[in-house]
Amino acid sequence: MTIVVSAIEGRRARRALSSEPIAREDIESLLAAAHLAPSCNNSQPWRFVVVEEPTMLDKVKEALPGGNYWAKPAPVILAVASRRDLDCTLSDSRDYFLFGCGMAVGNLMIQATSMGLIAHPIGGYKPEIVKAALGIPEAYVLITLVIVGHPGDATQLSDKHRAIELGSRDRRPLDKVVSWNRFAFEDPPAP
Ligand SMILES: Cc1cc2nc3c(=O)[nH]c(=O)nc-3n(C[C@H](O)[C@H](O)[C@H](O)COP(=O)(O)O)c2cc1C
Repeated sequence: MTIVVSAIEGRRARRALSSEPIAREDIESLLAAAHLAPSCNNSQPWRFVVVEEPTMLDKVKEALPGGNYWAKPAPVILAVASRRDLDCTLSDSRDYFLFGCGMAVGNLMIQATSMGLIAHPIGGYKPEIVKAALGIPEAYVLITLVIVGHPGDATQLSDKHRAIELGSRDRRPLDKVVSWNRFAFEDPPAP
């Protein structure tokens, strides 16, 4: 059995959230963990907008589609924005800003798990609504919203989400995503 750090193993994209407020120092711990992430040339491309005022939260939550109903109780939402030119742009389409922000959000999720909090990144939202509400300039990409909260009650979830919440981790076998010494994958042809 390989050893994986417990916060990595324990992290799940949990959806059962309570509306209990999160202490400011706890939010700051999450952000500090994110900001310790590595980035190309130490570019630190991540820009976090912390949304915690109720009126601002309501505006952001208006951008959520029905399937992300579960995020409505969240007391904090972190909007992660960046621009291509804020990080390395190298040959072979290596625009590292998305990667860097992903590394930062990865750190943040692990920190949240170790603190008993949920930090669940989502891509399901209307970016134009969130950008307008938060004053994020058009030139920035709103990469994700991280839904942050304390664990809540799974009975408030849809049947599908409750099954995922209480079920086991769903991953392809490791050898489908890892090959040793040679590239050997059976992905469908690139479009
Ligand atoms: C970029 C990204 C976008 C995601 N968007 C959504 C979303 O809009 N709604 C949602 O419920 N979960 C969303 N998720 C969570 C994934 O569905 C979840 O991470 C995946 O099913 C694996 O489950 P696990 O994180 O519990 O291992 C997103 C995750 C990532 C990384």
